[in-house]
Amino acid sequence: MPCSKQLVYIFCMIQAFSFLLYATIKLIVIEPIKIDQIDHTAKLISQLEIKPTNFAGWKKRHYITNYFNKDRKVKIYITRGDWYTNQDYRELEFNPDGTLANCEIPCIWKAREINRLTFRELKSADALFCVNQPGLPKKKARKGQKFIQYTLEPKTHCPECYDKSHMFDIHATYDENSEVPTSYIRMDSKKWKLVPPFKLTKLSQGEPFVSFIASHWTKYRSEFIQSIMNYIPIASFGEVFTNTGWESHPECLRLDDFFDVKNCVISKYPFYLAIENCQENDYSTEKLWDTFNLGVVPIIWGAPNTRSYLPHPKSAIFIEDFENTKALVNYLKYLVSNETAYLEYHQWRNMTSSDGFKKKSYMSMYNLECNVCREVARLRVVEEHNEYNFMMNDFETDDS
Ligand SMILES: *[C@@H]1O[C@H](CO)[C@@H](O)[C@H](O)[C@H]1NC(C)=O
Ligand SMILES: *[C@@H]1O[C@H](CO)[C@@H](O)[C@H](O)[C@H]1NC(C)=O
Repeated sequence: MPCSKQLVYIFCMIQAFSFLLYATIKLIVIEPIKIDQIDHTAKLISQLEIKPTNFAGWKKRHYITNYFNKDRKVKIYITRGDWYTNQDYRELEFNPDGTLANCEIPCIWKAREINRLTFRELKSADALFCVNQPGLPKKKARKGQKFIQYTLEPKTHCPECYDKSHMFDIHATYDENSEVPTSYIRMDSKKWKLVPPFKLTKLSQGEPFVSFIASHWTKYRSEFIQSIMNYIPIASFGEVFTNTGWESHPECLRLDDFFDVKNCVISKYPFYLAIENCQENDYSTEKLWDTFNLGVVPIIWGAPNTRSYLPHPKSAIFIEDFENTKALVNYLKYLVSNETAYLEYHQWRNMTSSDGFKKKSYMSMYNLECNVCREVARLRVVEEHNEYNFMMNDFETDDS
């Protein structure tokens, strides 16, 4: 039947056309993707080797690391804990399989005395983590193992905390130049936006409106506090210029933890003197960061680059912006007398934070463990990739 012949013809045409289409797609689209993929992998890995400079850069680095790490575990032992194992370690959360909760890299994170580690454990560790000074074996138990040093002490006050042994591959310090920059932010800083500003109506006439707590005397602290006390009273609770007892705030004294008592007291005044013990880039301690969680405005003396990582330019007052102490005091008096002007220092809570601040919040004590695991995983990805390339080049140049 002519009709069936026609059908066969059409059927053949469709088949021929489909084959042509498939061949075209394979040739033009699929084959190049394979080459592209290799290119793409090399490109992504090379991106992993460039240190990020902003918040998005760090997120991207961690995303790429996780992509190549797949689900491989990272195992880290804390060999020397000092203060770290005594307080912070307890707050970590773990998944049922023993890996850190809230970290996309499956990471085993364990505190063990170095001399209690069995040889097998030592050999299985991807990294050993030390707080402050070294407490490490003389050499690595296996190739690729990393030694990590964590310290938040400033260089001028604790030179011995800094690695001169060159045993460490990774440094986690407050300094942006370290491999894992770690700010003193110890909580989810997004919560700070919800903290209500200090209520100026709570102040009564003649009461101090600036608080200060420090345990170590420094030249600057003693000169500045003396100078400002010529104009206004300062409520000082710490060892330096003590003039107010903790019991003046009984509801604070009732709290169990010393840090809670301290922060409760700070929250009773509209301003807090955040005077660090030295001026080193990136060195801003809880003296600065805690004020944001307490609804208080910090008055800063500290890291020369502090402005680059405040949540907003108008979230703090800098002593250096005033010609002298008297000018600063006049401005503070003006702010406590004008609530609208004082509240301008809290408006950042309703705004998008600066990139510098987002970076400090992300690369922080709060995220330390996961950030360290990410770094160990990243180095493993990069090193294994480079080793593979090296091997491939070897094959290609091998003409025997
Ligand atoms: C109070 O502060 C607001 C906001 O800065 C300002 O516009 C206003 O003029 C100030 N009032 C007085 C009396 O100084
Ligand atoms: C943030 O915005 C809300 C709503 O407009 C306002 O009630 C609140 O006072 C603002 N907070 C600050 C700290 O400016």
